[in-house]
Amino acid sequence: MSSFLELSQAAIGYKKDEYIVEDLNLSVKEGELISFLGPSGCGKTTVLRAIAGFVDLQKGKLSIAGRDYTKVAANKRNIGMVFQSYALFPHLSVFENVAFGLRLRRVEKLQIKTRVDEALAMVGLTGFDGRLPSQLSGGQQQRVAMARAIVIEPQLLLLDEPLSNLDAKLRVELRAELKKVQRRLGVTMVYVTHDQEEALALSDRVVVMNAGKIEQIGKPEEIYQRPSTLFAAHFMGISNHLEAKVIAKDGDYLRLAAANASELIARDADDAKIGQSVTITFRPSAAELSAEKLRDDIPYLEAKIMIKTFKGEAVSYFIKTDVAEFEVEIPTEKAHYQEEDKVFLILAKEICIAFSNNGEKE
Ligand SMILES: Nc1ncnc2c1ncn2[C@@H]1O[C@H](COP(=O)(O)OP(=O)(O)OP(=O)(O)O)[C@@H](O)[C@H]1O
Ligand SMILES: [Mg+2]
Repeated sequence: MSSFLELSQAAIGYKKDEYIVEDLNLSVKEGELISFLGPSGCGKTTVLRAIAGFVDLQKGKLSIAGRDYTKVAANKRNIGMVFQSYALFPHLSVFENVAFGLRLRRVEKLQIKTRVDEALAMVGLTGFDGRLPSQLSGGQQQRVAMARAIVIEPQLLLLDEPLSNLDAKLRVELRAELKKVQRRLGVTMVYVTHDQEEALALSDRVVVMNAGKIEQIGKPEEIYQRPSTLFAAHFMGISNHLEAKVIAKDGDYLRLAAANASELIARDADDAKIGQSVTITFRPSAAELSAEKLRDDIPYLEAKIMIKTFKGEAVSYFIKTDVAEFEVEIPTEKAHYQEEDKVFLILAKEICIAFSNNGEKE
């Protein structure tokens, strides 16, 4: 598949020479579902607005389907959009809300009926055409917004946190439907969210953003298992970290010394140098606890259990070591430890990732 949507060296901002997003390079394939994932204020909506044509690129280039769109007006881009707030016309029926874009385009009456019916069927709202938005649930309103976006047969669909006003169960349901519709239409889709689970579940590729910059682009599995920056790691729920110094390098791994700890081993994320200080990270659910020291060649830290929290499937332990405090999550059937117990935190090298502390990264 060739590149369909392309942003190169884009700088975007709301005031002249003040960029919210800079040096943005992105290439989305035709039919791909790509998500922008990042914390509030990092510039996700700003990027979407630039693709839609609501804010201009101050530098760089936007192309869609091989054509330069950098200066094309928003209403000439044939892009469908869905926002967090459903933004339906309250005084218009479901049918008229969906038909709106077609009427603007002066589509012939009979065809409007056919296409609105099709779009409503696709989002599971057949029979709802006569209702007003106020007579629908939040989830149904968002389906109408979706139907309105797809009915114009857009070359690109942009969605900005479309599910964040809905409750958790409905979010999961609707995101599966969204993906189905996207696959059926084969339309290229850019999706914005700050929910990592949603991004991972939905996307072909995820763009992790931080403070106006792309931290990492990759398949969900790659981002989850091999975050390339400390920020991406934190954002993927790898919440434990400790400081250490590189003693030696061993292929893809580093041998590390942390105060008062046995030698630790971690994957080298960004080519750290011997003597350099790094941050070792690991996921709470990846670590293990043991009542006894395993073998001497498996790195461990001595720890004490401070707080135990039952979570159903798993038990979360807040533990204290000489180096730092950590959260460790153990499947309930293996979680035999109580508060005050002395344990060994087993840090197998496969679960640890080390990032250089070079001042640039978070
Ligand atoms: N119309 C505007 N004029 C000036 N600055 C703006 C405007 N809209 C957004 N900003 C600023 O641009 C930055 C990025 O905002 P943006 O809305 O793109 O963030 P976001 O990643 O979508 O955040 P959220 O997850 O909260 O929606 C913020 O610092 C914001 O204050
Ligand atoms: Mg936003």
